[in-house]
Amino acid sequence: MGIMGRLIMMAMPITPRFIIRWVANRYVAGPDLAGAMEVMRELSAQEACFTIDVLGEEITTLAEADFFVEEYARVLDAIIAEEFDANISLKPTAFGLLIDESSAIANIERITSKAAEHEIFVRLDMEDHRVTQSTIDLVTKMHELGLTNIGTVLQGRLFRTESDIAELAGALAGASDVRICKGIYLESEQIAHTGYHDIVKATNRAIDQLLDAGSYTAIASHDMPIINHSLAALSQRGMGPGVSDPRSGAGGRRKGKGPGYEFQMLLGVRGNIRRKLASQGHLTRVYIPYGSRWYEYSMRRLRENPDVAWHIAKSIIMPWTNRR
Ligand code: FDA
Repeated sequence: MGIMGRLIMMAMPITPRFIIRWVANRYVAGPDLAGAMEVMRELSAQEACFTIDVLGEEITTLAEADFFVEEYARVLDAIIAEEFDANISLKPTAFGLLIDESSAIANIERITSKAAEHEIFVRLDMEDHRVTQSTIDLVTKMHELGLTNIGTVLQGRLFRTESDIAELAGALAGASDVRICKGIYLESEQIAHTGYHDIVKATNRAIDQLLDAGSYTAIASHDMPIINHSLAALSQRGMGPGVSDPRSGAGGRRKGKGPGYEFQMLLGVRGNIRRKLASQGHLTRVYIPYGSRWYEYSMRRLRENPDVAWHIAKSIIMPWTNRR
C-alpha cells in the first residue's frame, strides 16, 4: 500500500489542478464560508452535527493570524445566526504558536471567549510533535482563565498519549474533552507506533483510558476495528444512546454534546457508517474543512501522509468502500 500511495503522490504535482479540485470537492466544503453553510444545511437532514475548520496552518508572520481570528469570528456569527448544531476546530500554528506563544494564546483566547458567550465548543486540532505539549498547555491555560469550552486532540500513534490523557484528566477532571484519533502525521519510531496494528491497538487503549478517566471522548476514526472496539467499550461501561453518562466524575452533559462521547468523521469519508451510527442513536459529528487554501492544504497533507492519496484513489476506483 505504501508504494501505491507514494506513486499517486508523485503524480500529484503534474496532475491538472482542475482534477485535484474535482477530487477535493468531496472532502472540502468549498473556498468560502458559504460552501460550509450549504454542506451543513444538506447534512443536517442526516442528523449529523458539525465542526468547522478554516483551512490553513503554520503561518510565517504573526500578521497572517489576523485572517484566522477574523474568519473564525465570521464562522461563529454564522453558527449563531443560523442556529447550526456546530462547533469549531482550529489549528494552533495558524494563530502563531510556532512564532510567538503569547500572541497565539491571546488570539485563541479571543475566539474561545466569543464562542463561550454562546456555549459553543472550541477544539484545538493536534498537529505534529513539535506542538503537542504547547497545545495541551494552551487548553489547560484557557481552563485556568475560566474558558472551559475548549479541548484538544490526542493521537493514538504517539507513545506519550497515555500520559497526556492522565495529565488532562488530572488537570481538568470532568471538564477534560478529548478527540482521539490515530494521528495523521507520520512521526518517527522513537516517539510513535508506526505499524497499522500497533496504531490501532494503541488508539483503542487510549479510548478505554479516556472513558475510564471520565473524559468526554470524541472518537474520530473511519476504521471498523476502532469503531467496533469503541461500541463494545461504551457498552461495557453502561454508556450509549439515550443513557445519561453513568461515570462518576464525568462532567455533566453540555450543549451540543453527546452522553460522554460522540463519533466524528471527515466530510466525504464513509458517510454510510456515520449514518448507521446516527440511526442507532449515537451523536455523530462531521468535520467540515473549507477555505481558499484548499489546494496547498491538500498537497501538504498528501506529502505528510501518502496513505491519504491511496484512500482517495480507492474511494474513486471502489466507490462502495466510501459512500459520502
Ligand atoms: P484508516 O486510515 O485506516 O481509514 C479507514 C478507512 O476509511 C480507509 O480504508 C478508507 O476507506 C477510509 N478513509 C480514511 N481516510 C480517508 C480519506 N481521507 N479519504 C477517503 N477515505 C478515507 N489527525 C491528527 O493528527 N490531528 C487531528 O487533529 C485530527 N483530527 C481529525 C478529526 C476527525 C473528525 C477525523 C475523522 C480524523 C482526524 N485526524 C486527525 C486524522 C486521523 O488521525 C487519521 O489520520 C484519519 O482519520 C485516518 O485514520 P482512520 O482511523 O480513519 O483509519
